[in-house]
Amino acid sequence: MRQSTPILWVVQACLIWLTLVSASPTISHDNLVSDADSDSDVSALQTRDTKPFPLRILPLGASITMGYKSKDGNGYRKWLRQQLRYAGWEVDMIGTMKNGTMHDNDHDGHIGWRIDQITSHVKQIIPQQPNLILLNAGTNDALQNYKVDTAGERMDSLLTYLFDNIPNTTIILSTLTFNGKKPQLGTDISTQYLELAAKRRARKERLVVADMSTFIQWKQLVDKIHPTAAGYEEMASVWWAAIQEAEKEGLLQAPTSTTKNNTAFSKAREKELDDSTADPRLPAYTAPPQPTIKRINSSKGSSLSHQWHLWAVAFQILTCIDFSYV
Ligand SMILES: *[C@@H]1O[C@H](CO)[C@@H](O)[C@H](O)[C@H]1NC(C)=O
Ligand SMILES: *[C@@H]1O[C@H](CO)[C@@H](O)[C@H](O)[C@H]1NC(C)=O
Ligand SMILES: *[C@@H]1O[C@H](CO)[C@@H](O)[C@H](O)[C@H]1NC(C)=O
Ligand SMILES: *[C@@H]1O[C@H](CO)[C@@H](O)[C@H](O)[C@H]1NC(C)=O
Repeated sequence: MRQSTPILWVVQACLIWLTLVSASPTISHDNLVSDADSDSDVSALQTRDTKPFPLRILPLGASITMGYKSKDGNGYRKWLRQQLRYAGWEVDMIGTMKNGTMHDNDHDGHIGWRIDQITSHVKQIIPQQPNLILLNAGTNDALQNYKVDTAGERMDSLLTYLFDNIPNTTIILSTLTFNGKKPQLGTDISTQYLELAAKRRARKERLVVADMSTFIQWKQLVDKIHPTAAGYEEMASVWWAAIQEAEKEGLLQAPTSTTKNNTAFSKAREKELDDSTADPRLPAYTAPPQPTIKRINSSKGSSLSHQWHLWAVAFQILTCIDFSYV
């Protein structure tokens, strides 16, 4: 009994300390600061010549994914493909649609579609097993003011469906580009995306955020919704930064062996399909840090799950007790 008292005291002290120090979790998303070490990694990646496996990329979303209102109909896709090729990736764009002047012009971007419509379509693409999904959806939910409060939940379900049915795939989740018609609703949806992305990343899921909401500005829109040529090029920069982040974090994996066309994918075919392997000189862009769950010293703004908080507290009690024995 003698010995249990100090231990209890330590636990109690830990709990008091936790109450004081452990504040509610919140989402940090600082647009102005970037990872200090990212630049050196980036240039190292760019000079590497061959990548270990091809990228089977599914551009998934609505009209912006299609490249609507861009002169060549390629939108961001050709710029991004060329950048990936320049960096040494083999690329196969996939999807149930074909638009644009680029050769490898497959995609799944459907004019006017909301998240729910994309979700009900997406099972058709599952057999193609992309190992990289570029997901830009939700602008139409904002424009149509369609259940904006729960857009994040619908996106979350879509992500779960994709992860469950495409083993090892990496998803780049785009926040929404600025729109001049329902700007606040767009921002609301982007905020929901950052929160769900922070949670999923905390669980070590293969998910990276491409923050389109800050780089593409009002003047880079043709109709208050769709990017100009320069805007689409900037989108490519943002995707490219996110893909590099995914590579840096070791998230990217080879396409699954069950993929029908995986073995048929050849370098010769790649070259034949390629528009160019030259440096597209994408607009310079420094990505903000990925959203994370962070503790702050205030009790407001907790939007994360109770469960997460319990885990954090349990972990801290353990470390605290552990520490007290040292
Ligand atoms: C896009 O391609 C589809 C077929 O894949 C075609 O029906 C549609 O008209 C095209 N849209 C544009 C804007 O080019
Ligand atoms: C997923 O990736 C891991 C690690 O590269 C690999 O061992 C596993 O076989 C992959 N799973 C599938 C279904 O391809
Ligand atoms: C493989 O992909 C090529 C080019 O996209 C296509 O022509 C061919 O039909 C595909 N083969 C299978 C088995 O899906
Ligand atoms: C944290 O505490 C400091 C000092 O009391 C305060 O200035 C700051 O606003 C607090 N931060 C948050 C996010 O509440």
